[in-house]
Amino acid sequence: MVSLSNRQMSLERLRDQVEESLENFVQDRLTKSDAPAMSLARDMLLSGGKRYRPTVALLAYQAAGGKDLDSVMDLALASELIHTATLIHDDINDQAKTRRGLPTLHSAHSQSHGIIAGDYLFVLGFGLGGKFDARIVDRMAETSANIAAGELLQIKHIADLGTTPEDYYAIIDGKTAGPFASACSCAAMQADAEETIVNTLDEFGWEVGRAFQLVDDLLDLTGDPSMGKPRGTDVHEGKMTLPIIHALTMLHGIEREQLADVLQNFSDDRWGELTELLESAGSFEYAKQLIQNHIDRAQESLESLPDTDAKSLMIEIAKLSRGRRT
Ligand code: IPE
Ligand code: IPE
Ligand code: MG
Ligand code: MG
Repeated sequence: MVSLSNRQMSLERLRDQVEESLENFVQDRLTKSDAPAMSLARDMLLSGGKRYRPTVALLAYQAAGGKDLDSVMDLALASELIHTATLIHDDINDQAKTRRGLPTLHSAHSQSHGIIAGDYLFVLGFGLGGKFDARIVDRMAETSANIAAGELLQIKHIADLGTTPEDYYAIIDGKTAGPFASACSCAAMQADAEETIVNTLDEFGWEVGRAFQLVDDLLDLTGDPSMGKPRGTDVHEGKMTLPIIHALTMLHGIEREQLADVLQNFSDDRWGELTELLESAGSFEYAKQLIQNHIDRAQESLESLPDTDAKSLMIEIAKLSRGRRT
């Protein structure tokens, strides 16, 4: 039984534990008849993801009073396997060339390999998560179904200059915030926490997840060499992220027309133009303010919980998501 004393626990240590469990899981699959599928998926799975979802799951479990990390690790791993599955499929949809600084799975192999590897990891995720209580499995299934709905809504709004902030939030709640909320609340259920505590941790997950996707969307516009994926993928693809939705609402006259033209006929030599318009509309500042609001709400949502190291680390991870560059 793994039970960490307060002093021993840190985000880094939890991440290392996730990493080690994931590596063991991969090694085990490599001894089974599905080894060829795991050989294909392994590079992506072990290519240095931040492991935010499994880490918050382990923390939520402990913040909810859970004492045996071993009993929740498979659930944490399930969240990472399902996340990785969505990334492999997302990279096909977005025709992305790099992920985590490496060629995406479909560009290193083929689109068919990407579809199979993604399906494979989804199945493995449900194989691990399916051993838990029915209400945990139900929540995982509902969350994964909502990822599909969120992705479809995103496709519906591609290049739609009339996309509203409500549409944007429906998309990110489906594809990103839901999985964070599910990781937290399922972990709390596994800790046998009372309903109010499960709901508290669920709320934390929603808010952190929203902040997390807003940061990702901001990074796509501002770019950072350490991101491991090229900037501007969203703009090239016509994804309506919040800074863009905001600028389309705030700008008028000639600037609004120029923004519509940049978005509809985007090429890399128009970065300066796009950035200036977003600056002029105050859209970067607006997105940063919303990120801060979600982080504040995440922190507030934990107020009713007893002060534990797990709670402090949850606040730390929420704040870290704001400054992340990868
Ligand atoms: C990328 O997720 C997709 C989003 C939901 C923003 P992460 O930023 O968690 O990706 P990895 O797993 O660390 O590479
Ligand atoms: C997150 O959205 C994708 C999923 C949750 C499937 P993005 O498309 O913004 O993720 P990145 O930027 O490719 O990592
Ligand atoms: Mg993408
Ligand atoms: Mg993105």
